Parts: sequence; C-alpha cells; structure tokens
Amino acid sequence: MNGSSRVGGVTPDERARFDRALRPARLSAYAPGEFVGQEGFMCASEIRSLAVKAGIGPGVSVLDLCCGIAGPGRLLTRELGCTYLGVDASATAIAVASRRAGSLDCRFEVSPIPPVPSGPFDVVLLLETMLAFPDKETLLDEIAVALRAGGRFAFTMEEGQPLTDAERARIPHPDTVWPVPLTEMLSVLERVGLHVRWQDEVSRSHWDVVDSLADAFAAGSSDITASLGSRALDELLVTHRRWSEWLRAGRVRKFAFVVEKPQQCLRPRPEDAPASSRGSHEHRILGSAPRSAAP
Ligand SMILES: C[S@@+](CC[C@H](N)C(=O)[O-])C[C@H]1O[C@@H](n2cnc3c(N)ncnc32)[C@H](O)[C@@H]1O
Repeated sequence: MNGSSRVGGVTPDERARFDRALRPARLSAYAPGEFVGQEGFMCASEIRSLAVKAGIGPGVSVLDLCCGIAGPGRLLTRELGCTYLGVDASATAIAVASRRAGSLDCRFEVSPIPPVPSGPFDVVLLLETMLAFPDKETLLDEIAVALRAGGRFAFTMEEGQPLTDAERARIPHPDTVWPVPLTEMLSVLERVGLHVRWQDEVSRSHWDVVDSLADAFAAGSSDITASLGSRALDELLVTHRRWSEWLRAGRVRKFAFVVEKPQQCLRPRPEDAPASSRGSHEHRILGSAPRSAAP
C-alpha cells in the first residue's frame, strides 16, 4: 500500500467515504477478529504483539504518528489501557478516528509530520507509513527527541533499493513510495541514537494480506466502483498487485522494529571512582528513571 492516504486516487478529504466503501472487502479479507480499521497490511494480532514488545500498557503515554483513522490506536487504547495521542495530516481521517474512539482515552491532532509533537512520550508508533517519508533521518531524529530516556519507537518499514524510473511508472502515486535499504535504516537509527531492541521480517504475512485484500477488492469491484469510481478501483488493484509482486520477488521486504532511546549515561558516583581520581568536582545523575516498565 502506498504510504499516504491517496491509495486508489482518493485524496485525504475523502477518507470517510473511502473507508465506508472498502470496509466490507477489508472485513472479508482478514481472518475473524483481525480487521480493526487498520489501513496497512498488519493484522490486529501483529499490531497487539508489536505494542506489547514496545512496552505499551496501562498508563504508558503513546504517540501514534500518521494514525489514519486510528484502527490500531483504538485497539491498543481499549485493550492495553495506554494514554494515546494520534496525529495525521488528514482532517477527515482524524474526524473518523475521533468519532469512533468515543469515550476511550484518546486525543487526536491534525498536523503534517514533521514536526513531531514534543514529548516526552514513553512510546512512539509509526505503522505502515515509513514508506511515505523521503527524508527518514529528519523524521527519526525528531522521534528520538520526542521520546523520554528509555522510551521505545515501534514501526514497520519497507526495505529495498529506491524505485527505478520504470518501477515508479508502474505504481500509482510514486511520490509516496520511498523504500530504504536495511543497512541504511540501521545506520540512520544509530546516528540518531536509537538502539535496536527487536526486529523481525514480516514480508510473508504481509504478502498474504496483500493478496487477500486484492482478491476481496476484485470480488467487491461493483460496489467499490459505485462508491469511488472505476479509476479508484483500478489504482487500488494495481497498487496491491504491485506490492504482491514485489514482496513475492523479494524486491521489497517488510520489517517490524522496536528501537529504544537509551537511558542517558550515569556519570560515575564519587565512591565508584578510583580513590586516586576522587576530587571535589560535582557528580550528577543525568537523565530520568523510566516512568513505565519495559518488557
Ligand atoms: C497507510 S495509512 C496508515 C494508517 C495507520 N498508521 C494504520 O496503520 O492503520 C497512512 C497514513 O499516514 C498519513 N500520512 C502520510 N504522510 C503523512 C505526513 N507526512 N504527515 C502526517 N500524516 C501523514 C496519511 O494521511 C494516512 O492516514
């Protein structure tokens, strides 16, 4: 799926209509209980498991960047009891998210990213949208600043060389498709001071979801065309077929990550220093204790 909401040629301001038109196909594409309003290729169980790995639980503050209609965010707030801020550039996506959140402990903001809201947050999420950012270093740098010491950033990413001109010509909205080689992502994470705690390749499960979604959209083509038009349906099908092809061939791989902003260094206490080096200079503890337990 493209990294922005313009999948299928639908602009952000049409998100509610887009969501309504695709909902029956999406519901049928996922195993029972696995569709919770997410707008990518993750299943609910994968979202839940990534969140638990990132230490999301009661009272943990979560910033969800590019939350869309916040299917994942609402699931996590409901099940894990975190406090939640979702941000997205699309006003209508946030309107849907906010309406569906009801009395859950969720706040929402309409804003382009960057800037990343200032924290500190215990956990930052970026699900199924890293692809949309051509400049990943600026984004990751701001995320690192927004995390408290010991905080975690959980995300999915599309791994691979940049698209060639020929590939860009074969995917709708190539301006939202910026895969990045794994080595480059690891270097950027290191440069901004985020340490990898866990990573996993999820290409196979995402490819199954892509195929299932493509089949469901094809099966529901008359209803989708009636709501969104034939161009939107065509773009949706082409996008999903292209991702299926790329994932199958290993042209692009999907990864999920949990990375951590380390606790700041503790300067040695006087009693820990060798006797010969003990002087009268000040020793201070830098950084704060974690507010929540990491798993
Ligand atoms: C594929 S959807 C993913 C939504 C959600 N994270 C999920 O997994 O269900 C991508 C979302 O990112 C938003 N988006 C893309 N680029 C953005 C940016 N630079 N700033 C804010 N939102 C952005 C789009 O409006 C869209 O809602």
